[in-house]
Amino acid sequence: HGTSKINAKAHLEIGGCDTVELKETYGTPLYIMDEALVRQRCREYMESFRASGLTFQVAFASKAFCVMAMCRLAEQEGLSLDVVSEGELYTALQAGFPAQRIHFHGNNKTPYELEMAISAGIGCFVVDNFTELHMLQALAAEKGVAVNILLRVTPGVEAHTHEYISTGQTDSKFGFDIANGSALEAVELASGSLNLNLLGLHSHIGSQIFEVEGFQLAIERVAEFAGQVKENLGVVFKVVNLGGGFGIRYTAEDTPLKVSDYVKSITDAVKQYFVGIYAQLPEIWVEPGRSIVGDAGTTLYTVGTSKEIPGVRKYVAVDGGMTDNPRPALYESKYEAMLANRGNDVAEETVSIAGKCCESGDMLIWDIDLPKVNSGDLLAVACTGAYNYAMASNYNRIPRPAVVFVNEGSSDLVVKRESLQDIVAGDVIPERISKQPL
Ligand code: LLP
Repeated sequence: HGTSKINAKAHLEIGGCDTVELKETYGTPLYIMDEALVRQRCREYMESFRASGLTFQVAFASKAFCVMAMCRLAEQEGLSLDVVSEGELYTALQAGFPAQRIHFHGNNKTPYELEMAISAGIGCFVVDNFTELHMLQALAAEKGVAVNILLRVTPGVEAHTHEYISTGQTDSKFGFDIANGSALEAVELASGSLNLNLLGLHSHIGSQIFEVEGFQLAIERVAEFAGQVKENLGVVFKVVNLGGGFGIRYTAEDTPLKVSDYVKSITDAVKQYFVGIYAQLPEIWVEPGRSIVGDAGTTLYTVGTSKEIPGVRKYVAVDGGMTDNPRPALYESKYEAMLANRGNDVAEETVSIAGKCCESGDMLIWDIDLPKVNSGDLLAVACTGAYNYAMASNYNRIPRPAVVFVNEGSSDLVVKRESLQDIVAGDVIPERISKQPL
């Protein structure tokens, strides 16, 4: 998919770059991002919303892949940006992302983070709970400013997805519950504040969702609540943010819709459910992360050792693993892979791909059919653009891989490979310990 193909040398080529050459230049493991595909996904969102006739913002959920080059790219494509921590906010600001288009999320923003965001002049805070509501009100009052907010609500919708990543249900750490009256109380508080400019509501029901029914139900509940608010408090919302969660295809088991179909189902539902409630339809904001960057990413590994247990299984180990992709260990996520240096060879054996970390759970793929795999072969794992680099760790003191953008035959480093010096950069040996002779 995207710009990937097998070239005349039978090598996997992405963005016009031969992956065997990329290995020579940058080493492995290596995250490769197909820039044209990321831009295409951004444009699909922007164009589908334009076609709806509604006023909108598409905010890239930077948690999926937050690096300065990506912030710049999202900016160029006209997207806004969702950040959830001082680190993501700092990355965006350092990249020159316009503060007005930054939305700040999170269920436990610290006073420091709120201050940093107020000073930067960000476009909107997505307020998650009463503690934050009071804290933000007090900080904004102290600074003599009014800040834009959305209130995150839980509409009581449980998305059909892995339980760790569904967040729309009542028993969730996120948001004000509509069903138990918390959301109404929050609207009352926020709309009465001079320092909080209540723009509207936010709802996010989960991630890697294929069915549109969950989104439609959430919109119905939010619209119903908006009607209640209008009737009881006379407050009309300008904005409704429906979060992210649009699924992508990792393997043949996954059946996502096209971006344009997701967007159409959402904008149609907004029209359907708000038309009787509001004279003017609200602005619609969304926050896709995975569906913008997920399938544009490929991780390139070098094969090292293998171990055959006759009649049971063959393990093939690569030079990365759960440190660069913790998703199989965390969510039992499935991936597809191929030999990047022998793209035309046919499958001959079933193997399981192991990482190099010191624990049995460090497996990338169970039971995949590949050509006979040799030490030194290059393995390309597809669809690793979202929540891979973003969730990478230094477990076993393994340096994080480099990230390159490839496009029309050029490759550019966007994150340097961590060095061994980086690994010990923060370490301190207290004098009490270091003064004892070795
Ligand atoms: N907005 C909010 C408020 C979110 O919590 C999330 C994701 C998004 C937007 C973007 O969702 P997306 O379009 O990427 O599905 N680490 C997990 C995914 C966690 C998602 C957390 N929130 C994974 O690797 O599957």
